[in-house]
Amino acid sequence: MNVETRHTISSTVDTIYERDYEIYAPDMRRLYENAKRDQWNASRDIEWNTPVDWERGIFNNGLIDIFESPYWEKLDAKRRTELNVEFASWRISQLLHGESGAMLACSQLVQMVPNTDAKFFMSTQVVDEARHAEVLARYMKEKAGNKIYPMSKNLKTLFDQLLGCSQWYIKTIGLQLLAETFAVSLFRMLAESSPDPLLCTICRRILSDESRHMGFSVLSLPEQIKELSQAELREVEDFTKEMLKLVLTGQFPRAAYEAVGFSKAEIDGIQRYRVEAAKGTEQALFRQLFRRDMHQQVVANLAKVGLLSDRIKSHLSDLGFNPNADGRSYNQVVAALPA
Ligand SMILES: [Fe+2]
Ligand SMILES: [Fe+2]
Repeated sequence: MNVETRHTISSTVDTIYERDYEIYAPDMRRLYENAKRDQWNASRDIEWNTPVDWERGIFNNGLIDIFESPYWEKLDAKRRTELNVEFASWRISQLLHGESGAMLACSQLVQMVPNTDAKFFMSTQVVDEARHAEVLARYMKEKAGNKIYPMSKNLKTLFDQLLGCSQWYIKTIGLQLLAETFAVSLFRMLAESSPDPLLCTICRRILSDESRHMGFSVLSLPEQIKELSQAELREVEDFTKEMLKLVLTGQFPRAAYEAVGFSKAEIDGIQRYRVEAAKGTEQALFRQLFRRDMHQQVVANLAKVGLLSDRIKSHLSDLGFNPNADGRSYNQVVAALPA
């Protein structure tokens, strides 16, 4: 074991040992039934002998920050391929660490949620998240150059807060309502745009589990949120804002640019270019689409659980959410991109 790949988080949780096994939440039990019915096996159900053609790319080139910029134009075909693989590895590594953190948060939630219906469901999400980590780790190892990048600073902060907090509903807001919404938008974008059929299949498999996970937050949170005092509600709103900020920012894959030989000055330039591009030129189209998808989902989820207060709305606009960035679907954008 490499100690640099591990750290310890202190947390105090109340373990509720519920011994009433009646069904009180039939909707939650239905979700549990669906989870048992829809289990898949990452070692059996994925065609691991499908070759991955790096020259076609792991990600669509349009997802790379510098695509079609002067930095991109300077690269020959070989370095473009290298950058594509490193960029994809960096991004998938973050998803992988997120899946692993989700598994830990869910295992805490099994203990913390107050009734058997929710405990049964949460125990299936632990297995789901383990499978997601397993499938992404295997893809990285066997198909994408066997390099796993360290967790980004913001992602680490996010999971440290999530795993350290001691109220189940705050954990659920952070994980199932916000972090997973972000991951779902990303997996959806990858499933629809990646030139690698194996990665598309993996993303679709993961997505098939995620609707249940969001379902858990939508079923479990509304009643709890209604019961919160003003002070508790403010705490939840502040936490929501912090989580959204961490989810949306600090995801610049500097190490991937370093790996393909860009100098520090060039990478600083790329970072500035990226900020400019994000303001609305063609190069940032994917990000705009991703944001729109994510925005709509976050707003819908917050509304469903009763958290879309004026304060949260103003937090969202501070964070630069723009639901009307582009009216086209991913497929239309992918089709319009140069080959
Ligand atoms: Fe997951
Ligand atoms: Fe999930």
